[in-house]
Amino acid sequence: MPSHFVFVTDSHHHAAAAEDFGAPKMLTRSHEIHRAMVPAINTCNADFIVHGGDVVCGGGSFEMPYDIYLQTIDEAKKAFDGLHAPTYYVPGNHDCDAQEGSFEAFARQFPIPETLDIVEAAPRLRLALANVYPVSPLEDSLGTWTEAHDRILREAAAKAYSDRCALILFIHPWVFPQYEAQADFVPGGIVGNAEQLIETVKNLPAAIAIFTGHRHINRIRTYRDFLVVDTACLIGFPLGFREVWLTEDGYFKTRFRTLDLPDLMQASFDRSPVKTNQIWQGEVHDRDTEILIPRLKALWE
Ligand SMILES: [Fe+2]
Ligand SMILES: [Fe+2]
Repeated sequence: MPSHFVFVTDSHHHAAAAEDFGAPKMLTRSHEIHRAMVPAINTCNADFIVHGGDVVCGGGSFEMPYDIYLQTIDEAKKAFDGLHAPTYYVPGNHDCDAQEGSFEAFARQFPIPETLDIVEAAPRLRLALANVYPVSPLEDSLGTWTEAHDRILREAAAKAYSDRCALILFIHPWVFPQYEAQADFVPGGIVGNAEQLIETVKNLPAAIAIFTGHRHINRIRTYRDFLVVDTACLIGFPLGFREVWLTEDGYFKTRFRTLDLPDLMQASFDRSPVKTNQIWQGEVHDRDTEILIPRLKALWE
């Protein structure tokens, strides 16, 4: 029953980037990052891997030409095929193409859920993989938690609970606020209808954690008796992914593993003020910590 997995997110591959784009992203060096990522993740010897979205740089902002988008998907697919453990994907707002906002070409290479897929990833552990883009990310980059997501999650969690299985929700955008809106500062990155999602998860004792990417920030919050785990990007500082263990006595343990690319790490770090880098990296316990999840203990012990 103990489980060991890797969560990697926001790898933002670009086959032919002419510039790095907004810090901490280092798009011109994404080939190097792919090459370093594969052995680093394989060394973990995890039971399975989940990618939290933004595998590529389609969608808004990057204006990726369609032929480069297709090439980028092929290259990313080749890199991720080098991973030894079963790998699951949730789509991010940059995984669609930049012209039509369609996930079709991406989905041909990377299996992604239609709405919410439930997979049996390990003994007594199920994953709920969300696609929150019923409309194109070009129109709504944050996506929406819809009635359909809510219904599928409630049914799956009820079934998981009766089978004494834990359920983890994986969704690309954030679900939990960081700062309040103040003056002209409007905090972003949160999925539409997040309040409903949290309210639903509150009432589902099989749901032990929610994993997100998108904001490129390491942060872990305990809310009531479950966790919200936000993970920084692979495409720039702090340049890593999360290794996670769940133990039979209900503990969640995590280590943030950085890629062994010191020059690239420094180049990304140097693009931002220290305070900004600190936010992306998170505090020590946003990266490496051990927390008891009461729901997991109740299910597994
Ligand atoms: Fe991203
Ligand atoms: Fe994103």
